[in-house]
Amino acid sequence: MENPNWRFCVAPMMDWTDSVCRRFHRLLSRRARLYTEMVHANAVLHGDRDRLLGFDPVEHPLALQLGGSDPGVLAQAARIAAERGYDEINLNVGCPSDRVQSGTFGACLMAEPERVAECVAAMRAEVDVPVTVKHRIGIDHQDSDADLRAFVERVAQAGCRQFIVHARKAWLQGLSPKDNREKPPLDYGRVYRLKQEFPELTVVLNGGLNDVSAARAHLDRVDGVMFGRHAYHQPTSLMAVDALYFGEGGIPELDEVIADLLHLTAALQAEGVPMARLVRHILGLFHGRPGARQWRRTLTEGVQRQDAGPALIERAAAACLQTA
Ligand SMILES: Cc1cc2nc3c(=O)[nH]c(=O)nc-3n(C[C@H](O)[C@H](O)[C@H](O)COP(=O)(O)O)c2cc1C
Repeated sequence: MENPNWRFCVAPMMDWTDSVCRRFHRLLSRRARLYTEMVHANAVLHGDRDRLLGFDPVEHPLALQLGGSDPGVLAQAARIAAERGYDEINLNVGCPSDRVQSGTFGACLMAEPERVAECVAAMRAEVDVPVTVKHRIGIDHQDSDADLRAFVERVAQAGCRQFIVHARKAWLQGLSPKDNREKPPLDYGRVYRLKQEFPELTVVLNGGLNDVSAARAHLDRVDGVMFGRHAYHQPTSLMAVDALYFGEGGIPELDEVIADLLHLTAALQAEGVPMARLVRHILGLFHGRPGARQWRRTLTEGVQRQDAGPALIERAAAACLQTA
């Protein structure tokens, strides 16, 4: 039976999808599945766990993305995360950066399905929540349908039931991480075919999606979609998600969202979170609407002040809502 939990996801994005960002995104959609930035499993074991793993309950449904390739370390990290209440543990098999390659994790693991299977099995033995994998359609010259099928088949045997597929291969040599998100061409057909071959698995399509309404058509071929950059830069697009993807309620008005944002701002201020940590994520809120530039300018100038708080957001928004 179709599992609706992955129907609409917001991608893990390093430096972007931190807890503050996710709390903001949650104002725009109650149902979208949110992903953390990637956290290395070693950091979970040895680092500041409150900082790395802390989240607010409103962020559910929430997945932690782990990086790593040592089954034992990943299993311990997964257990610690599950005890904190994450709804899913996702393994990063898609990130192509050099730093990641030297540590043998991320996209280069696509060449080692056996190892990924061991990691998944070890994590599953420790947690009850789903252990999922986010990967590419291929790497370097290992990018045929047969290669992809072999990878998914082996990892599924280890108990992974949900695969998030970034629909472009990664070039591990010679392309920067940024280029690897733009240069290799997107191929949604590969992801559709994967779902056809494994109808019992949940397959989520990711890469290049930039229209929440149009992307719904992919649900005829796969189980879900994952939005990254578009959701971040044009967050109001998330306002339609609950209605379009989950048949829930209407689309909220922007002034309702602003009212919720003021509450969030006050809550963050009470928690001692500097305003700048929120402002960077909300700069795109008026994207494409009258007053967008003024919104950004008012916020970026005002946030420098020591006493910046809800009044700043209120002032910036009032000017834009009047212009609209
Ligand atoms: C700033 C940035 C950071 C990213 N960090 C991660 C990450 O930590 N883990 C991961 O699996 N993918 C990461 N990605 C890739 C995204 O999750 C996504 O797969 C990619 O951006 C393609 O989707 P999009 O075209 O909708 O943005 C990152 C992307 C961006 C733009």
